Amino acid sequence: MPDAACLKVPKKLGEQAIRLVTNLELFNRELKIQQVDNHLCIPLTAEPLAAVLKKFEINLQDFEISVHNFPEREKRHFTHFDLLSDKLPPNILTRIPRAIDFVGDIAIVEIPPELADHKKPIGEALLKAHKQTSTVLAKSGAVEGVYRLRDFEVIAGVHKTVTVYREYGCVYHVDVAKAYFSPRLSSEHNRVASQVKEGETVVDLFAGVGPFSILIAKKYPAVKVYAVDVNPDAIAFLKRNVYLNRVEKQVVPILGDARKVVREELTEVADRVIMNLPETAIEYVDVACDAIRSDGGIMHYYGFTKDSEPLEKARVRLTEAVRRSNRQLKKILLAKTVREVAPYTWQVVVDAEIQ
Ligand SMILES: C[S@@+](CC[C@H](N)C(=O)[O-])C[C@H]1O[C@@H](n2cnc3c(N)ncnc32)[C@H](O)[C@@H]1O
Repeated sequence: MPDAACLKVPKKLGEQAIRLVTNLELFNRELKIQQVDNHLCIPLTAEPLAAVLKKFEINLQDFEISVHNFPEREKRHFTHFDLLSDKLPPNILTRIPRAIDFVGDIAIVEIPPELADHKKPIGEALLKAHKQTSTVLAKSGAVEGVYRLRDFEVIAGVHKTVTVYREYGCVYHVDVAKAYFSPRLSSEHNRVASQVKEGETVVDLFAGVGPFSILIAKKYPAVKVYAVDVNPDAIAFLKRNVYLNRVEKQVVPILGDARKVVREELTEVADRVIMNLPETAIEYVDVACDAIRSDGGIMHYYGFTKDSEPLEKARVRLTEAVRRSNRQLKKILLAKTVREVAPYTWQVVVDAEIQ
């Protein structure tokens, strides 16, 4: 509790005194006003000079100046909406995005086209509202291409797309413009990792910078993970992350196309295969089946669907694809929606036991 100059007045003069010190720009808003007996102790930013004391004498018949020990006021957290409320018209304010992704010290926001002229103040407000953030990126395109990347525009703060992100006790170097990464999948990374059994061999077919592979390796010291990705930048970050998380003995990063890598190096090795490439994973079900041991294993299949019954559709598509791959889907262990990626479009996951 800090000491500060104090204006002590009888309670009945409290309102008048607060208005006076506010007008004189002497009111210390960081400290709490205290009540002592029938008096109020009002915290001041400085000891009042003679001219100010004169004003107190004129306006407040009964007062005392002293030093008092004041408790601090809880700091109010200002959201980016609060900070923009006097800068943008109300019809614009209501359309400001609420969903913000935080990847380390980077905030990522989707600004609708009609707000394009207001990007800068929105970015500045986000920087101010989130003190740990040093860069605000606006999405400037959809996730696309084989590497599943999107373009970004820096709208406030430091010009960068690289950061360090922490998730479930692991640390990841990521460049959101060069290798796919989404903090929205963090519970999924953990859910899958929690199912792994000590001693398993896991093949992460579309590994990115390693959020499934590294977490699994860190949780289970006797698990081996083959982490495959076709994007050289993803593999470069994955290698760095393997080193940072000290799982070099367990995670094997492999640069290449999943189909070719499995055919050449990973046939029938896996107790578990992770297929997090929702856009086209269905085309790689045969590859996953080839990677799974001849006596069976688990497949974590991700897909996108616009269907009115997304889970049923995903189950059927996967079952048929496994059958076409000359394996059998013994049991669906789980089918659930992971998130809505666009209006009426869902990312789903199906965990299946393959024979
Ligand atoms: C949606 S991202 C998932 C990354 C990671 N699993 C995660 O959760 O952050 C899909 C990844 O698959 C990679 N990819 C796409 N096609 C591939 C292929 N044929 N073989 C291997 N990797 C591929 C992309 O480069 C991308 O990094």
